[in-house]
Amino acid sequence: MQAISSALTKEGKSIGFVPTMGYLHSGHMSLVQKSKAENSVTVVSIFVNPTQFGPNEDLSKYPRDFKKDESLLNEAGVDFVFYPESSEIYPDGFETFVVQEKISSRLEGEFRPTHFRGVTTIVSILFNAVKPHRAYFGQKDAQQCAVLNRMVKDLAIDLEMIICPIVREPDGLAMSSRNVYLSETERQDALVLSRSLKLASELISGGETSVSKIKENATSLYAKVESASLDYFEIVEFDSCQSAEKLGKGKKYFILVACRIGKTRLIDNYLIQV
Ligand code: PAJ
Repeated sequence: MQAISSALTKEGKSIGFVPTMGYLHSGHMSLVQKSKAENSVTVVSIFVNPTQFGPNEDLSKYPRDFKKDESLLNEAGVDFVFYPESSEIYPDGFETFVVQEKISSRLEGEFRPTHFRGVTTIVSILFNAVKPHRAYFGQKDAQQCAVLNRMVKDLAIDLEMIICPIVREPDGLAMSSRNVYLSETERQDALVLSRSLKLASELISGGETSVSKIKENATSLYAKVESASLDYFEIVEFDSCQSAEKLGKGKKYFILVACRIGKTRLIDNYLIQV
């Protein structure tokens, strides 16, 4: 991969890179399309990264369908699919990790303590393998974007980070590879995430600035959904992911939610400008 990338760069080509864990849906493909539009060559990686899964998480049952992914990427006209083996990425003797300190310690970091250490490490390795000029990530994983933006800045990684909007199902559910875990009733119940975000954003548009009031209203929706167990519902500042108490005019925030629907843990968010 490094040899291919070096040769392409020498030829004056720009390389766009979309890292994924596969089981691709329209959310992933929107990143691919954006990269195709902005670069001469697009590389997509498919690697279910073991270091970002906790010991009791879904690594072994994470959905995989390489053949289908490959044909979707072929149809989309992707130039290279990079799908390394775990033993190539983490060979015997591997013992170096990349840790982003502060943003990664909150929210997802509290519920998944080793998750972002795995993400920052694999994304660094993939950046070193693919050597892209631009890298594409989805706002679906807003905290992941904030952590990686900070990492790229702090470590002076020479590429441009492009964050793309969330792609949703027609009824509002954010697309996710994990949605296949949901039963039919759970699939309906899962709409509580996008509904609560919509309610919160409507309250904010209506002039509400008290975060506790917004949270109280939005989280009350979860009490009516039996299969739902809320991990967090937070309003945080756009770049730092620090919690806000009162929303300030002209500022950007993320409303972030993580909720288990039955055994499936889902996340979603809205980006708002007050
Ligand atoms: P994965 O969950 O496969 O997601 C790959 C990329 O697709 C991420 O940038 C994610 O935010 C984006 N994405 C997922 N669902 C989306 C949606 N509904 N709309 C828009 N974009 C969406 O995120 C990861 O993999 C991994 O952590 C990775 C960065 C590959 C490191 O292992």
